[in-house]
Amino acid sequence: MHPSLARPRPAPPWLLDEPYDDRPLGTLKTGKEAEVFVVERRYAGGSSVLLAHKRYRPRRPGKGELRALGFAHSTAYRNTSAYSAGWYLSSRDRRAVETHTDHGQDLVHRMWPVQELAMLQRAWDAGASVPYPVERTADGVLMEFIGDVDRAAPRLANARLSRADASSAWQQLLGSVRALVAAGVVHGDLSAYNLLWWNGRMVLIDLPQAVEFITNADAPDLLHRDVANVAAWFARHGIEVDVEAVFAELLALAF
Ligand SMILES: Nc1ncnc2c1ncn2[C@@H]1O[C@H](COP(=O)(O)OP(=O)(O)OP(=O)(O)O)[C@@H](O)[C@H]1O
Ligand SMILES: [Mg+2]
Repeated sequence: MHPSLARPRPAPPWLLDEPYDDRPLGTLKTGKEAEVFVVERRYAGGSSVLLAHKRYRPRRPGKGELRALGFAHSTAYRNTSAYSAGWYLSSRDRRAVETHTDHGQDLVHRMWPVQELAMLQRAWDAGASVPYPVERTADGVLMEFIGDVDRAAPRLANARLSRADASSAWQQLLGSVRALVAAGVVHGDLSAYNLLWWNGRMVLIDLPQAVEFITNADAPDLLHRDVANVAAWFARHGIEVDVEAVFAELLALAF
């Protein structure tokens, strides 16, 4: 079958077609702009599954609002200019984003969870190892939780890998990056902090800033930076990666 006619990658088996009740269990991590909460989804049939809820903080919270919404921290903003090139914005909105007006910053703020869900979905459909994107929520994205009832998966930066694990981790990462690039997408913020390591499985997370080759002229540079970032981590763990060779191979997949 022609690849474009193939069914998109099916949803994981733990996502049941039953009524459910979602209960927040607590904060997992507080990041720069978002916080990640663990949610328990209880199905009517009696089974349950853990989900990760990445929620973006309100941009201009009123007094007490952050706390009332369950957030632990306030926000620091990331520089958007390299990422927003591919967003579908009117020319007026684009100018607002580029010149950082208040309206522009509001737009950017509303775009992050939209972008994150869209990019997770594309990555999932492309066959990359990412948390399954369950759904968009009022202020974020619900996705597969990587971990179990006892603990969340460590980030690669905090995981202890044997040499054999590191080698497997690199091969898995390369496989996912190939799948992403072949689907026209660059992660854009790849590092040992945005990779999870769980039971021998490598998972890429944190995709709101991901960009496309066809809409973003910075995509090749971002891809090169991604490869160089992770290669440096792997070099420290005994896996030598030829950054230029990998970059060239990936670029050939993209075009
Ligand atoms: N699906 C998930 N399953 C388990 N843990 C997760 C999941 N998603 C995120 N986390 C945890 O939450 C942390 C923050 O998530 P993420 O990197 O997506 O957000 P962020 O706002 O970019 O955070 P930071 O500012 O620290 O980069 C991750 O480093 C990871 O430890
Ligand atoms: Mg992150």
